[in-house]
Amino acid sequence: MSELITDIGELTTQDGDRTRLHDAALVIDEGRVAWIGPAADSPATDTRTSVAGRAVLPGWVDSHSHLVFAGSRDAEFEARMAGRPYEAGGIATTVAATRAASDDVLLRNAKALRREAELQGTTFLETKTGYGLDVEAESRSARIAASVADTVSFLGAHVVPAGVDRRDYLDLVTGPMLAAVAPHVQWIDAFCEVGAFDVEESREVLRAGRSAGLGLRLHGNQLGYSGGVELAVELGCASVDHCNHLSAHDIDALASSSTVATLLPACDLSTREPLAPARLLLDAGVEIALASNCNPGSSYTTSMPFCIAVAVLQMGLTIDEAVWAATRGGAQALGRGTGADAVGSIRVGGRADLQVLDAPSVVHLAYRPGVPLTAAVWHGGIRTPPIVSAF
Ligand code: NIG
Repeated sequence: MSELITDIGELTTQDGDRTRLHDAALVIDEGRVAWIGPAADSPATDTRTSVAGRAVLPGWVDSHSHLVFAGSRDAEFEARMAGRPYEAGGIATTVAATRAASDDVLLRNAKALRREAELQGTTFLETKTGYGLDVEAESRSARIAASVADTVSFLGAHVVPAGVDRRDYLDLVTGPMLAAVAPHVQWIDAFCEVGAFDVEESREVLRAGRSAGLGLRLHGNQLGYSGGVELAVELGCASVDHCNHLSAHDIDALASSSTVATLLPACDLSTREPLAPARLLLDAGVEIALASNCNPGSSYTTSMPFCIAVAVLQMGLTIDEAVWAATRGGAQALGRGTGADAVGSIRVGGRADLQVLDAPSVVHLAYRPGVPLTAAVWHGGIRTPPIVSAF
């Protein structure tokens, strides 16, 4: 069945140049984009959907989330808003709740968050393990993550669990735990931060992952100058995430590398860390991505539109830069920016992952912050029921 989506007021493809097209149409066939062009030239199709002048753009690529968990940290959040600092140690609360939860509870929670994300336009999503922290619990998290997300990262190196010797834990993460999760994951990640793992430890973990055939990514420079960015560049990580505290040297190193700096604006607000220096990074020529970092401790939101609004209103990005970072930037951070299995763009032959805004332009994503603007989402050519308006 071919479907024409027409009367597109503004089409952002993120393919080729970055201009937005007007009065456009596209055809979806067998889950892929089969044609893009002026609405006036549309070919015949089996069905036709008019979006009545609304804006169409690629679905969001959310390249950093932690969806497999149980429990809430609202009390920790409330204390933080009253002045207590964010610390890596809070992760232990979620580890306890996650270990105590049934498979069914974890799966339902993760699926509900995935669905919540999709209703806000997310069509490709990475998620991580990291709230199990023993072989059985991490392997269960990896299996559940793989059934919910498009790509999964092993984050056994999130923190050292209470009562476990540090060296023993590193041996576990780089040995039996890695072997147990390997069938379900594509990436290895580590939290390189005070209270979590230092540079040497993170290097050891990522190297073990590389030897097991996994791609590399790293949490770095969130709470201070952890050395994570330098390490990520040294090891050729696809992405280094957070990047709140960057030296001039860090920015130069990123600029001369292919490592994407993934920025997490909702996390920055929720932890009251300084917003990552998005403008400086872009001006230096660094590729950036925007992601939700959905997790119960530091960023309990699935909303990519919220992240985009903050990036534009508070971090100095233009609308087009923010939309690019939340689509092609995220794809690049996941090694899916180009090639046959690329995501984050609307291009002929590519997977039909796209969204319609209940607005005439992507400008409204920041112009109308906090307003639910996702009118419809096509994921692999299949339309998700709308939350805002039907047309
Ligand atoms: O990306 N930084 C490490 N991991 C998560 C936080 C996890 C937590 O606090 O539960 C993050 O922010």
